[in-house]
Amino acid sequence: MGGTLGRLRSLCPTVSVGTLTADLMHLGSELELLERVGVGVVHIDVMDGCFCPQMTVGPPYVMGLRTPLLKDVHLMVDEPLDKLDAYVAAGADIISVHVEAAVHIHRVLQRLGSLEHSERPGEGIVRGLALNPGTPLEWLVPLLDEIDMVSILGIDPGWSGQSMAPGTLTRVKRVKDLAAAAGKDILVCVDGGVTRANVVEIAGAGADLIVTGSAVFDGRAAEANARYVLAAAGGRTAS
Ligand code: DX5
Ligand code: ZN
Repeated sequence: MGGTLGRLRSLCPTVSVGTLTADLMHLGSELELLERVGVGVVHIDVMDGCFCPQMTVGPPYVMGLRTPLLKDVHLMVDEPLDKLDAYVAAGADIISVHVEAAVHIHRVLQRLGSLEHSERPGEGIVRGLALNPGTPLEWLVPLLDEIDMVSILGIDPGWSGQSMAPGTLTRVKRVKDLAAAAGKDILVCVDGGVTRANVVEIAGAGADLIVTGSAVFDGRAAEANARYVLAAAGGRTAS
């Protein structure tokens, strides 16, 4: 399998590292640190102050990250349909939208499926569908034809550093069962509440992509943390 989805799959299982708690005064060197360790995906949390209480960044920030890492854009925004093009134009490789955030989520996913990568015409964008901890997993079922990845949120979106909701790993296993029952090969991602203490268990539950922010950028030992979580997730660290 080629394309952007193939690139992502070739890295999995792996981690996608969020930069909300990175040193934003030195973001370039924080990204270089991830590269040096062998991390291949950077997670960009987009919050609009409506779907979730915080506000963070938008397309200019995504465009401004000049990095070879795959750009994994997590849209925590209401009604993302009209915003997709701007994130694609900004260089997004992966875009996840929330099932709770759009009245016509199927249409949003179809639109996402029609867009070409900004730097690699002919390649698509990896389509992710994110579910909050309180959302029934069955909402996924009618959408399985339109997604490449399901993102199970371990926390309610808003802030880094929250504790993972109990039941998150059970949800990961149930998603895998639902997809298998439908004959679909989709990636499963876990986002929120990942720590050095629970990352091995999350990988053991079958997560293909583990998103972590504060377990890496803790203000103390980011490089050692990144190396640890990448290896614990089952990813290949750089020597
Ligand atoms: C939830 C975001 C997460 C979050 C992860 O608001 O989608 O990506 O920033 O942060 P940690 O890994 O610190 O829980
Ligand atoms: Zn996220």
